[in-house]
Amino acid sequence: MAGADGLKVGVFDSGFGGLTVLRELVELLPGVDSIYLGDTARLPYGSKSRETISRYAVSSARFLEEQGADLLVIACNTATAMALEDIQVSLPIPVIGVIEPGAAGVAAAGRAGHVLVLATAATVSSGAYTRALARMGLKAYEKACPLLVPLVEEGWVSHPVTDEVIRIYLEEALAAAPETDTLLLGCTHYPLIEVAIRRVLEGMGRPMEIVDSAKATALATAKLVTERFPNAIRMGEPRRSFFATDSVDKFRRLGGNFLGQPVDEVLLVDLGG
Ligand code: DGL
Repeated sequence: MAGADGLKVGVFDSGFGGLTVLRELVELLPGVDSIYLGDTARLPYGSKSRETISRYAVSSARFLEEQGADLLVIACNTATAMALEDIQVSLPIPVIGVIEPGAAGVAAAGRAGHVLVLATAATVSSGAYTRALARMGLKAYEKACPLLVPLVEEGWVSHPVTDEVIRIYLEEALAAAPETDTLLLGCTHYPLIEVAIRRVLEGMGRPMEIVDSAKATALATAKLVTERFPNAIRMGEPRRSFFATDSVDKFRRLGGNFLGQPVDEVLLVDLGG
C-alpha cells in the first residue's frame, strides 16, 4: 500500500494504447510510480464478446493489484465499456475507467451539441458512451472503426492508406449524423492518429473539436490521487514497470511511440487464456 513505498498507480490496457493515458498522467504527476500491463497476447478485445472481455480484464486487473497497485486505471475503452463494474467489485482498490472522464472531457470542451464517438465494435455495441454523454445532456452517434487499431499497431500513423480508411469511416458517420460538431476519440489507440483525423476532417471541409479520452482520464486520475492519496507520491526518480502477456520485444519497439519516451524493460507475464 501507499506509505513508505509511495503510491503506485496501475494502468491496464489490452495492448499498447493505454500508454497514451500513462503518457498524459506522467505529464500531470511526473513523480508518480506506475505499473503498466498490456494484455497483448489476448488483444484485440474490441472484437470479442462481453463475457470474454470481462474475464480477460478482471484477471489483468487482479494481476496489477497483486503487484502492489494502490489505484487502477482501466486505460482501455473496450474493457471499461464491458467490464468496469466487474473489475470494481473484484478489487479492493479504487478503479477508474476512461468513459466517464472522456464524456466529461467533451462537456468541459463546451462547444458540443452532437458528438461523434469513434471506437471499437465492442465499445460501440455497449452504448456506454451514448449513456454517459446523455447524462451530460449531449447527443451521441457512435461509429465502430475496426480497421484503425491494426493500422496503428502496424505503425501506419501517417500513411495514405490510414488517411483513406479514416475518410471512409468519417464520411459514413457524418452522413448518418450530419449535425456532429465534436469528435471523441473513444479508443486509446486513436490519439496516435489524431493528426491524421484532423487532416482528413479539414480535407472534407468539416474541421471540428477533437476530444481525447486519454487526456481526460489522466486529468480525472490526477484529481483522484490528489484527493484520496495526498502527499503519497514518493520523492526521487519515479519507478515505472511494464508487463506484457506477449512479445516483450514488440512491446519495447512499439511502446515508445505510444508513451512518447523509450520503454526499456518489459517483463513477460502469463495470465492464461
Ligand atoms: N485498447 C482498446 C480500446 O481502447 C483498443 C484495442 C483492442 O481492441 O483491444 O478500446
